[in-house]
Amino acid sequence: MSASEYVPEDADLETLRIAAGKCHGCDLYREATQTVFGAGPAAARVVMVGEQPGDREDVVGSPFVGPAGRLLNRALAEAGIERDAVYLTNAVKHFKFVERGKRRIHQQPGRSEITACRPWLAAELAEIDPELVVCLGAVAAQSVIAPSFRVSRERGQVVALETCRAVATVHPSAVLRAPDRDAAYAEFLADLRTARAVMS
Ligand code: URA
Ligand code: SF4
Repeated sequence: MSASEYVPEDADLETLRIAAGKCHGCDLYREATQTVFGAGPAAARVVMVGEQPGDREDVVGSPFVGPAGRLLNRALAEAGIERDAVYLTNAVKHFKFVERGKRRIHQQPGRSEITACRPWLAAELAEIDPELVVCLGAVAAQSVIAPSFRVSRERGQVVALETCRAVATVHPSAVLRAPDRDAAYAEFLADLRTARAVMS
């Protein structure tokens, strides 16, 4: 299964977004509320890629509007990266979760879901043609850079891709969960400053 048969060719971002709303490229559309497509300017020089929408994003329909997004906003401001100039998206466009009572608990997407959803991310990147892609967490890095990429070892390094460069860091949710949150935040900020320097 894959999103590829749902992705229109040579489409602008708005057309892609509408088409993604009807994607059945894997099973995640069944339980989720809606597709959460990327958001931001088509002329963005930087694309930031998360893992998948969270509980809040699934309800609202936009990426990074929950707790992880608030932490990201703060770090972007501190790193001197203008949030509104960034195109924000996710490696997987539907929320994957299990229900525990009234709560919906995030589940990491598997290799097959990441691969199935990749055509949407590829289409976004082809349309935007950014200078830099910032991968937020392992799922994004594995989708954008390479399945063998290890964020723990290779975070903060500038990687050359075919048409642009990439930097990976941890996911902002990992900063929120870290035992030493201040230290994790400082490292996250340092990686974003590296990204900022690449953009010059
Ligand atoms: N985490 C993500 O990876 N993406 C979002 O959009 C929200 C939380
Ligand atoms: Fe399609 Fe991606 Fe949603 Fe799967 S997660 S249904 S591939 S948009």
